Amino acid sequence: MSNKTVLVTGGSGFIGSHLINRLLDEGNGVVCLDNLNDFYDPRIKDLNRESHYDFDQYSFLEGDIRDQGQLNKIFKDNDIEVVIHLAAMAGVRPSLEDPKLYTDVNINGTQNLLEAMNNSGVQKFLFASSSSVYGNNKKTPFSEDDIVDYQISPYGATKKMGEIMCYTYHHLSEIPTTCLRFFTVYGPGQRPEMAIHKFTRLMKNNEPIPFYGDGSTARDYTYIDDIIDGIFGAMNGKDQFVIYNLGHSDPVKLDELVYVIGERLGCEPILDRHPLPAGDVIQTFADVSRAKSRLDYEPQVRIDDGISQFIEWFDRMVTSHGELFS
Ligand SMILES: NC(=O)c1ccc[n+]([C@@H]2O[C@H](COP(=O)([O-])OP(=O)(O)OC[C@H]3O[C@@H](n4cnc5c(N)ncnc54)[C@H](O)[C@@H]3O)[C@@H](O)[C@H]2O)c1
Repeated sequence: MSNKTVLVTGGSGFIGSHLINRLLDEGNGVVCLDNLNDFYDPRIKDLNRESHYDFDQYSFLEGDIRDQGQLNKIFKDNDIEVVIHLAAMAGVRPSLEDPKLYTDVNINGTQNLLEAMNNSGVQKFLFASSSSVYGNNKKTPFSEDDIVDYQISPYGATKKMGEIMCYTYHHLSEIPTTCLRFFTVYGPGQRPEMAIHKFTRLMKNNEPIPFYGDGSTARDYTYIDDIIDGIFGAMNGKDQFVIYNLGHSDPVKLDELVYVIGERLGCEPILDRHPLPAGDVIQTFADVSRAKSRLDYEPQVRIDDGISQFIEWFDRMVTSHGELFS
């Protein structure tokens, strides 16, 4: 795809800020919309987007996808060609605490955006969905053609509803639309409440790490650069409406993950054991054959290399901004 003007919602978050780095590096214009909420310390989001201001073709709008008027104005004021919709309340466990907020932002906010896009010049819409839509799918690896009617967390349910609305609005507006089911994304900048970040922080402080279940639950941890490659592939994809899994396709058990982090940090993990929370799935495991064949998606980064990259970044952050990362 030649250079475009891209609206990235949630562009100051973990995935969004990496995506914007690459969009800007490749010469695209970016409008970032983010409400900088306090799900985690918003100063981390300020850091995430610091380098974006080096580019003239970047603009930042603080605002909320629940504000229909603001969304309408964005499309009126800018010739947006591509929309990459990442803004959401993320995370399975926190969605059990405040499910209505998840519905409000992830479903109503997404619908506002789809409404605002109607009659715009948008040529491509990408939606950040999640492996959570598979719930406790029995068949592995999870493929896009599997039936996904049984989400087990409010978060998973909101992402499924987002996909449904994406199809409906695609049908009505004919805007080519792609839903990307990300599988547990990690790497520099990962959200602080996610396992790799949280375990690293706690282990470095010699504090116990919360350990849910017996260690056999598994996640298909996917390195951020591989996810960004997948998003770029999807931007160039030719489909009218399609869903892609973006995962590493190599699940890692919780006890292995803890071992790898402990080994990299040179410390013995202290486990604070808890039963598995009700919304947690047993495993995630992506079948990525569709993305491989149609988008040339080829995840590269193995978990031990990815964790080393994460820890290097974390150490730099502790040195430069210790108050945010201790
Ligand atoms: N990180 C993962 O492992 C993962 C896995 C599957 C799906 N996803 C999805 O990918 C997207 C990005 O995830 P992330 O890990 O970067 O999370 P993140 O929380 O770091 O980023 C989300 C951003 O959206 C913004 N936001 C939230 N509500 C908003 C609202 N009402 N209006 C405007 N902005 C709002 C937040 O301030 C934040 O900067 C989310 O949609 C998430 O559900 C992430």
